[in-house]
Amino acid sequence: MGRKTEENRINNFIRGKIMIVGIVGAQFGDEGKGSVVDYYSKNTNVVVRFQGGGNAGHTVKFDNIKYVLHNLPCGVLRENVLSVIGAGCTLNPVEVQNEIDYLTRFGLEISPEKLIISPRATLLTEVHKEQDKLLETTTEGLGTTRKGIGPSYGDKILRRALTLGTGIELSFEELEAAISKQLTESKVSPEAISTKDITAELFAALKFLSPYVKDTGQVLTEKMINNNSIIFEGAQGTFLDINHGTYPFVTSSSTVAGGICTSTGIPPIYIETVIGVVKAYSTRVGRGPFPTEMDNKTQEIYRDLGQEYGATTGRPRRCGYLDLPAIQYAVRVNGLDGIILTKVDILDSFNEITICTSYDYDSDTFTEHGIPLDLDKVKPSYETIEGWGNEFKTAGMTEKANLPVNLKKFIKLIEDHIQVPVIALSTGPNREDIVELTNLFDYSLFSLKERKETEEMRF
Ligand code: IMP
Repeated sequence: MGRKTEENRINNFIRGKIMIVGIVGAQFGDEGKGSVVDYYSKNTNVVVRFQGGGNAGHTVKFDNIKYVLHNLPCGVLRENVLSVIGAGCTLNPVEVQNEIDYLTRFGLEISPEKLIISPRATLLTEVHKEQDKLLETTTEGLGTTRKGIGPSYGDKILRRALTLGTGIELSFEELEAAISKQLTESKVSPEAISTKDITAELFAALKFLSPYVKDTGQVLTEKMINNNSIIFEGAQGTFLDINHGTYPFVTSSSTVAGGICTSTGIPPIYIETVIGVVKAYSTRVGRGPFPTEMDNKTQEIYRDLGQEYGATTGRPRRCGYLDLPAIQYAVRVNGLDGIILTKVDILDSFNEITICTSYDYDSDTFTEHGIPLDLDKVKPSYETIEGWGNEFKTAGMTEKANLPVNLKKFIKLIEDHIQVPVIALSTGPNREDIVELTNLFDYSLFSLKERKETEEMRF
């Protein structure tokens, strides 16, 4: 099977037929991955969520409707796309059912033919949510989304969580016993929740989801053999990765490209291209180091222009300047082949654009974020370039013909530092507000890695 798949892959690759691409956040989450995945999913057959759960907030806007997805892959918004939720995700079945109902109310059809969920996904319960809230209120807390993510993955690592597959098999009484056991193992007060009520709600949601539960690893392999293009949709961002982020101020899953394989069961060789999504400035929600954080007044301006409020919690996001040492780290850890710059239109409003190009630390200069730097102590060095808003406003732009000169300089400066191409810009919240500089899916000759397109070809 392995060899056959590989031969197929190479043949298809040469014929320009398939594309297996990971799209991950290169910052602290909220980079705009939702609209980017939605845009590129018009060229794909399958979109896969591989980690996280209801903590994500992916916003996509089209036909004057703003959809906010938390658990479901953005592929559910396209008619002919199969959406897959992989083994590495943690799911609250009640919330997943509510999300399906929410989309159905907009007239979108979600069926087991369009959405499949791995039986290996972790089953997140109300007990986990209560535990998360308790930790946030009784300790200093990380500023989590309070969706129960850490406690559910904690139970998974302790090998005592239920999976979706096992949960579905349980009778009402068995499920109630499992919830009671979870409650006893947690520090949540038995008075805080009614075991009977939450079991009833969960039992009904599990019955509802049962037809959606399939062996996703096997389906994905078959899809690859049969020439389908697949996007793996990251949630959160590189600096929230449990292993490679700003630990302990991180989420509890593998948000980086390596997580695609461990969380879905797809062999690493099949991930042909990895694209990083980078907001043209930086934001962070919750506690944790943030070297390029702006002063409060400037943060307010960016927050207002960029509507920087959490899609899941509504919390105001911390705002900072674009941090190239951080992106450089994300390029290395994810093996990024290119980046997509989002919210470029927000920078239309500024006469000058400030970009962090290195950190000073311990009398040395670093051009890459990460260990061994103490990120609370690094001193960012900034470069300033002239803005482009007076020449041309990019908001809503879809063609590259009129790219302002200073925007090209901005792109060039980024590329000179991180040494990978900017392949597209997002210029607004609507589905089509994207300027493609390089055609990601034009696979007729070479992969993105090998194409080495010149500036003239792209601009
Ligand atoms: P948790 O994932 O809810 O446990 O939260 C852990 C950290 O990750 C907190 O700082 C959250 O604000 C952050 N976080 C989790 N999900 C997202 C997201 O989708 N966007 C941005 N930050 C997130």
